[in-house]
Amino acid sequence: MNIKKRIVSGMRPTGPLHLGNLHGALNNWIQLQETYDCFYFIADWHALTTGYEDTSELSQHILYMMTDWLSAGLAPEKSTLFIQSHVKEHAELFLLLSMITPVPWLERNPTYKDQIVQLENKDLSTFGFLGYPVLQAADIIIYKANGVPVGVDQVPHIEITREIARRFNYLFHQNVFPEPEAILTESSKILGLDRRKMSKSYHNAIFLSDSAKQVEEKVNQMVTDPQRMRKSDPGNPEICNVFEFHKLYSDSQTVQEIDRDCRIAQIGCVACKKRMAKALISAIAPIHEKREYYLSRPDQVRDVFFQGTEKARNIAKQTMAEVRDAIRIA
Ligand code: TRP
Ligand code: SF4
Repeated sequence: MNIKKRIVSGMRPTGPLHLGNLHGALNNWIQLQETYDCFYFIADWHALTTGYEDTSELSQHILYMMTDWLSAGLAPEKSTLFIQSHVKEHAELFLLLSMITPVPWLERNPTYKDQIVQLENKDLSTFGFLGYPVLQAADIIIYKANGVPVGVDQVPHIEITREIARRFNYLFHQNVFPEPEAILTESSKILGLDRRKMSKSYHNAIFLSDSAKQVEEKVNQMVTDPQRMRKSDPGNPEICNVFEFHKLYSDSQTVQEIDRDCRIAQIGCVACKKRMAKALISAIAPIHEKREYYLSRPDQVRDVFFQGTEKARNIAKQTMAEVRDAIRIA
């Protein structure tokens, strides 16, 4: 019998998905569906750790995220898709794990220290924010996951997860939890319009929800080879972000042509961008089409996640029974 290994990963519903999320995480998740038993969830409790003050848009973000996931190609026949807060067992395990997690493990977590500095306009001196990795550990080990597909920034959290799993097994003399491995996702090959990391807060993102017209406008604003002032100046595609996008979305013949014509000033940036925008738009057209489909059928989308939640909850319940037994608590 071929038993697939299980993987778990989550995404916080902090805003609409953009191409950076697609190339950085989602496409990888979609591929992993073929080889693993995948559990993917929307980490809405985690979104609260930094966004607890204003929750007015949370449910809208969750619905959009569900829609974008299905449109991009996460498939309920292959993966278990659900919403974290709908499986309350995560919270119980979080509570129990918090009893055995030493605070210094959390205080020296690099993402904790980073975020407190970076999000200085928010009060993150909360218990929930410090405990972020404990909740994440609960998310993962409640499904006895073998692997967790994440970006490098999340590696410290997976390390804490392994330590917590080990400590639980050691303290309660049971082998309830396997120690999951990080499955590293290559960092996104795509940068924002201004060549910084693509991010909603930098206002440099192309969203999966952008219309063809919006994509064209955004592509027009993109920075090209900064040394190329006039169309008659030869350009250098190696330092041009538009060229990077061509490599992702245009066929190899076009890429070669642009590479050559840019260097000999045979193509201007305006025309080059037009071609790229066209290629980009047709590459994401299937996602757009599905997005339209699902947007007009929110009940169908909710139903997919409802089914996934049921499945996840059943497994989480079984694990919790073992956990309570091991601890000898009701
Ligand atoms: N912390 C993750 C992130 O910001 C999101 C997350 C929450 C997660 N729980 C998880 C990822 C469990 C993997 C497994 O990207
Ligand atoms: Fe970049 Fe294209 Fe302009 Fe060359 S022609 S600098 S590749 S946008």
